[in-house]
Amino acid sequence: MWSVRVFVICSVFLVFFTIGLYSAVDLKSLHPSFLQSTGLKERELITTTQSQQFTTASWLGDSYASETPLYSASECPSKLQQKLEQLKFEGGAFLPMVPVLQWAPHATQEQYKRLIHYVGCMGWQNIKFDDIKEVLSLLNSMANGVMFDNWRVPVKREMWSKRGAPPSSACVRCAVVGNGGILRKAGLGSEIDKHDYVFRMNGAILHGFEEDVGKRTSFYFFSTNTMRNSFAAYRGSGFLKVPISEETRYVFIPDHDRDYFLVTAAAKGVLVEKGREKGINPSNLLGPNLTAEKFKMIHPDFSRYLRNRLLPAPIMKSQSRNIYRPSTGAFALLTALYVCDEVSAFGFLTENYANFSDHYYDKTYKKTGFYANHNYNKEMKLWRRLHDVGAISLFMRNNTDVGLLHKS
Ligand SMILES: *[C@@H]1O[C@H](CO)[C@@H](O)[C@H](O)[C@H]1NC(C)=O
Ligand SMILES: *[C@@H]1O[C@H](CO)[C@@H](O)[C@H](O)[C@H]1NC(C)=O
Ligand SMILES: *[C@@H]1O[C@H](CO)[C@@H](O)[C@H](O)[C@H]1NC(C)=O
Repeated sequence: MWSVRVFVICSVFLVFFTIGLYSAVDLKSLHPSFLQSTGLKERELITTTQSQQFTTASWLGDSYASETPLYSASECPSKLQQKLEQLKFEGGAFLPMVPVLQWAPHATQEQYKRLIHYVGCMGWQNIKFDDIKEVLSLLNSMANGVMFDNWRVPVKREMWSKRGAPPSSACVRCAVVGNGGILRKAGLGSEIDKHDYVFRMNGAILHGFEEDVGKRTSFYFFSTNTMRNSFAAYRGSGFLKVPISEETRYVFIPDHDRDYFLVTAAAKGVLVEKGREKGINPSNLLGPNLTAEKFKMIHPDFSRYLRNRLLPAPIMKSQSRNIYRPSTGAFALLTALYVCDEVSAFGFLTENYANFSDHYYDKTYKKTGFYANHNYNKEMKLWRRLHDVGAISLFMRNNTDVGLLHKS
């Protein structure tokens, strides 16, 4: 109990401290549901370490911190969260209280002791406490603790007036844009950009494809590893830099210490001090004007929750289980599902994926690659199911359109 109380006290203190800082900026720019939830006094951690002993059976780590959600907009009549709560997922129930983002309040020894057991993005194994503490202490504003830190800033109002009228409800409408070939010549760019927020990931090439996939990027999901793999794999197709714009926030799925080191350097405005990117200027990878507010890091509890409950796969019972995680696209879409009121998914796998090239920017037809570290079949079925129950709107298409790269 002692540890629980310490965490509650620390987080309440930190949260109010950071709200204090933030209100000096513009409290109105925060999401209304967030303001509503400044009942942060209620924020508490229900689950913590039960035992110092770690056994194979506890590899899953199917217990999670539980916090008052800062993410959902409860004023919206479409009530996505309610729909989700009625769904049975393969690995268990939908849990609305799992923390989505890790930030300053989580930088405690208690959390470290709990999370050090889990590898990659599932925990903090192989990362020193001091490194965790340094980076999370830098991520100390509400911009790091909530997804929609810029909700209702003037830019957005402008955008609304261009659309004719502000939304009649407090619904947050999100477009999540995968890189699938189904988007080629689909002409969805302006529809995508009309959403309140646009999520993208990995090798998202916009230049030259704006008509099909849009121009805006509110959130770019990646890990340092997947970003660098994307540069290596898609440079020839035109992926020369990640999406960069004033509204863009970078959402890390931290699967190595290098992610923590990169965020630390970017937030401090220095060259990366250690790890695989040592000596690199973060701006060379992520563009100019980097500040701590531009970064969000997915919480290891959220990663394990998505893996264990929403996308459990047979490989989790094998020796290779540690390589498995939901794909970056799955992270983006499921984060949106968790934090937005209405989610439209574009460019994600559909049953007839083989009819389309791997990516919308492929110059000739490329077969969609399935890799052992993800389970695209499970993901594809989950997207379809979420669509069928009305939780998301999944873009689907038959391959009758001229100009598509068909399988020949
Ligand atoms: C960086 O700051 C400059 C000067 O304020 C601004 O013109 C530019 O749009 C900013 N770029 C980004 C990506 O934020
Ligand atoms: C399109 O996809 C369907 C379902 O996967 C498949 O039966 C059909 O053969 C595909 N057509 C082409 C041209 O690949
Ligand atoms: C694709 O074609 C089938 C069969 O003609 C039709 O039932 C289905 O509605 C079409 N789907 C889309 C997304 O156009």
